[in-house]
Amino acid sequence: MKKTVFTGDRPTGQLHLGHYLGSLQNRVKLQNSGAKVKILIADTQVLNNDISKSKNVKENILNLMRDYMFIGLDPEKTSFLLQSQISELFELGMYFSNLVTQEQLLRIPTIKSEREMYQENGTMNMGFLTYPIFQTADIVMFSPDVVPVGEDQVPVLEFGNDIIRKFNNSFGNDLLKKIVPVISETPRLIGIDGQHKMSKSLDNAIFLRDSKDEIKRKCMKMFTDPNHIRVSDPGKVEGNIVFMFLDIFHQDKNKLESLKNHYTKGGLGDVVLKKMLIDDISQYLEKFQNNKKYSDSDLLEILSDGTSKAKKEASEKMKVLRSYIFK
Ligand code: TRP
Repeated sequence: MKKTVFTGDRPTGQLHLGHYLGSLQNRVKLQNSGAKVKILIADTQVLNNDISKSKNVKENILNLMRDYMFIGLDPEKTSFLLQSQISELFELGMYFSNLVTQEQLLRIPTIKSEREMYQENGTMNMGFLTYPIFQTADIVMFSPDVVPVGEDQVPVLEFGNDIIRKFNNSFGNDLLKKIVPVISETPRLIGIDGQHKMSKSLDNAIFLRDSKDEIKRKCMKMFTDPNHIRVSDPGKVEGNIVFMFLDIFHQDKNKLESLKNHYTKGGLGDVVLKKMLIDDISQYLEKFQNNKKYSDSDLLEILSDGTSKAKKEASEKMKVLRSYIFK
């Protein structure tokens, strides 16, 4: 049997290099090594962040589908499902919500930090507070072998396993399959501001479908070493965002080493480095141009096909689960 891999994304906008290096690249590898990959587009969960943005969700679903195909996910091998259309997920989440306490949710780090950082007066909507419950339902419904996630999501999946344990204890051993997280090892990519991880909301991202002009504009804006004013000044490599990016995207590592030496001694200008970086990133993204192109209507059809199949699977599973809950 093929290994099944399940993961999900909130449709928040276009995908950027940070997403690609962090998780998308890995999905393409998994798909091409024969795994059955399922990707949930969490169009319901995304409303937990800000329900007033619901008008953008439709366009962002399409954006996600465009990005998925752009990077080489193949609808023959990978399936896509739209959360809002699979009402069984919310039913299962509702049963799950009786198995955990508010205190448990509040101890999950992603909930804790959201509460401290973004939500005014320490309050947050119930949707956000309960997302780990519904995320557990998303996963459990499709019994995947592994769930690739960022490190910060591991406590959420452990919490999910606690729900699964309680559910199985209450209604029947081995009814639900334990979640196995696999942590994507790539560290989060820093944004072009050099301050925070790459993120659309912080306006520091290079998007996968950015044009070369766009990439150029963004790279030219990068800060380097504030004390490297004249070309002849010695410059600092450490903490220099242009070098951080060159480390990732420049292939000729020997040349990069000698450029670093040159920069440290003085006599190497920022613009030379930035031009190299613009070429490197543009080239890196160029490989995607060979991937098959899909029209918007193709994309929507692929998504709706995947969703119908998933809905059928979920509906059968819920029938079984209900029969155990309401014995
Ligand atoms: N929480 C994920 C995100 O922030 C999206 C998501 C929803 C998900 N359901 C999932 C991820 C199930 C993995 C498994 O993007």
